[in-house]
Amino acid sequence: MSEIANLKAGLIADIASADTLDAVEALRVGALGKNGVVTGLLKTLGGMSPDERLDKGPPIQDLRESVTAAITAKKAALEQAALDARLASETIDMTLPADLGPQGSVHPVSQVMDELAEIFADLGFSVATGPEIEDDWHNFTALNIPETHPARAMHDTFYFPDEEGQKRMLLRTHTSPVQIRTMMTTPPPIRIIAPGRVYRSDSDATHTPMFHQIEGLVIDKGITLGHLKWTLETFLKAFFEREDIVLRLRPSYFPFTEPSVEVDVGYTLVNGQRVIGGDGDVADGGWLEVLGSGMVNRRVIEACGLDPDEWQGFAFGTGVDRLAMLKYGMNDLRAFFDGDLRWLKHYGFSALDVPTLSGGVGA
Ligand code: DAH
Repeated sequence: MSEIANLKAGLIADIASADTLDAVEALRVGALGKNGVVTGLLKTLGGMSPDERLDKGPPIQDLRESVTAAITAKKAALEQAALDARLASETIDMTLPADLGPQGSVHPVSQVMDELAEIFADLGFSVATGPEIEDDWHNFTALNIPETHPARAMHDTFYFPDEEGQKRMLLRTHTSPVQIRTMMTTPPPIRIIAPGRVYRSDSDATHTPMFHQIEGLVIDKGITLGHLKWTLETFLKAFFEREDIVLRLRPSYFPFTEPSVEVDVGYTLVNGQRVIGGDGDVADGGWLEVLGSGMVNRRVIEACGLDPDEWQGFAFGTGVDRLAMLKYGMNDLRAFFDGDLRWLKHYGFSALDVPTLSGGVGA
């Protein structure tokens, strides 16, 4: 084989076995670059006699063309292979479940508040709010709890330091001041619920310094205890998602209602667990207090600037956390506010399913 044929075979073999673009480029420079072997041969053509050139020119030109073509083809092949590899590794499998990342959950208190708002919305109630930093008048006085009233001692109130010439401020001890604020700003008829945070200086397995209540208030003409009982029964049936809820109304005392009633629901023991529903007066049952309520005291209606001979109504209040515990089976209130992720994962709700009530009210 001639020298040029040898060189061509060697270069073509090297190009064929190069497996990176860098290697091909190095071969290109070595053959066709300024000081490359093929370039060197091409340069010799200028110093040849015409006959010699006629003889040696074609194999040298052929060498250049063959090597150039081999390099171009090899480069294209390597680029295509790199693209194929990338496409293969970056392919998205649309059938795989999406990676949603860390998932939060809806706290049982938020869940229950949503459920309550939904139930009462079906009954024509809107949601009212009021400040958590309240004054003494809205939290106590207007609710018929004057300064010297023993009921003030029942609420372990967090007071702000007294300031000269200022109203006495406190953290509201219940959601009842929202009744006052609503009656003073909204002309009746009124139908509201007021869920929110309340504060008392108290702490054990069933008490935390901050907890949640929900207040209800209806002010209209000709409202009776019968309306109250029906409303509470309808609400509790929808909330506990059972038709067999039995209520027991017991006479009680709240300064802001007259008469006042405490509302119990019947439960039955199932495997030693209290399950809400059924008549509590059975051998394996009992009664659980769930609400305070009553007909709004005329003095409260008067304090809000309304005529109690024209407007009557009922009110009720209860603990949201307690309702959540009864419905979803937690037994330590403190865990509600510890922020332990394991607890939140276990008792929390998916944001996509809220609220979970299936039938709503009066379905
Ligand atoms: N405010 C009461 C409490 O915190 C609960 C309550 C009882 C609210 C009777 C009411 C009611 O509206 O009528 O203990």
